[in-house]
Amino acid sequence: TTPLIIDTDPGVDDAFALALAAASPEVELIGVTTVFGNVSLENTTRNALRLLALLDRDDVPVGVGASRPLVHPHPHLSSAHGSDGLSGFAHTLPEPTRDVDGRDAVTLMRDLLERADRPVTIVPIGPLTNVALLLAAHPGLKPKIGRLVVMGGGVNGGNVTATAEFNVWSDPEAARRVLVEEDVPTTLVPMDLTRRCAVSAEWLDALARTSGAAATLTGLTPDYLATYRRFLGWDGMAVHDAVAVAEAVRPGILAATPFPVDVDCSSGPNRGALVVDQRLEVDAPKTLDIAVDADLDGLRA
Ligand code: BDR
Ligand code: CA
Repeated sequence: TTPLIIDTDPGVDDAFALALAAASPEVELIGVTTVFGNVSLENTTRNALRLLALLDRDDVPVGVGASRPLVHPHPHLSSAHGSDGLSGFAHTLPEPTRDVDGRDAVTLMRDLLERADRPVTIVPIGPLTNVALLLAAHPGLKPKIGRLVVMGGGVNGGNVTATAEFNVWSDPEAARRVLVEEDVPTTLVPMDLTRRCAVSAEWLDALARTSGAAATLTGLTPDYLATYRRFLGWDGMAVHDAVAVAEAVRPGILAATPFPVDVDCSSGPNRGALVVDQRLEVDAPKTLDIAVDADLDGLRA
């Protein structure tokens, strides 16, 4: 089994990502760290505790991370996940009966990496602030990270501005550090692909009829589904973050291509956009593996 750390800002799709990790025997969820993002750090942390309680994983330590981006003084929150982060349904989950770990996110990740006897996969599914801080503070631990599987960025457009995707836009300086400047093996799972991996309302209805925690999670989706219906005309929703976890669980379920990339850290209209060089015959010294295709049947199974 591969040891797994999830860095998260729950989030409706983060909830499904945590559930997938908890249900997958191929990985061992050894830690969860929280970050501001869809909602405030206080709410994302409470949601992470609630979700782990629902999943019967109160043994997993939760380290509290950054409440704001590296450079910008304020977090920018999302409107897609309601004011509680779980589309108004956070109260339907069990109230946490335990507290967070005494260590902050970076310290918890440091300790887990130091202690690991195998390479650890880290799956960041929120703004990249915690991971940027970890790599800056503890560069000596990079060899302990087997791979980062990051949900973020849009290759051909965004979801929060015309060109920027939410996780990268939330902290572009951190994203640039992790995705462009560092040299840890990384697979980026962009929103172009996570949208193609969307699940239908029918698929969710079938899940709702099963027993267990995942069925409870379908109760979080009505407003999120309504947003997709209103803006994209879909009868379904993207479960962005779960696609990244799927790749961590079953490496190779996504097919990736290396591209030269940058992150727009300007204050102009493209701030937070992932800049992907799709020209042919570019001789770039450094590339990032970007997931471009998926075994869709394998994913939805
Ligand atoms: C990403 O942004 C968040 O709203 C989701 O949880 C996901 O991590 C998709 O752009
Ligand atoms: Ca997320």
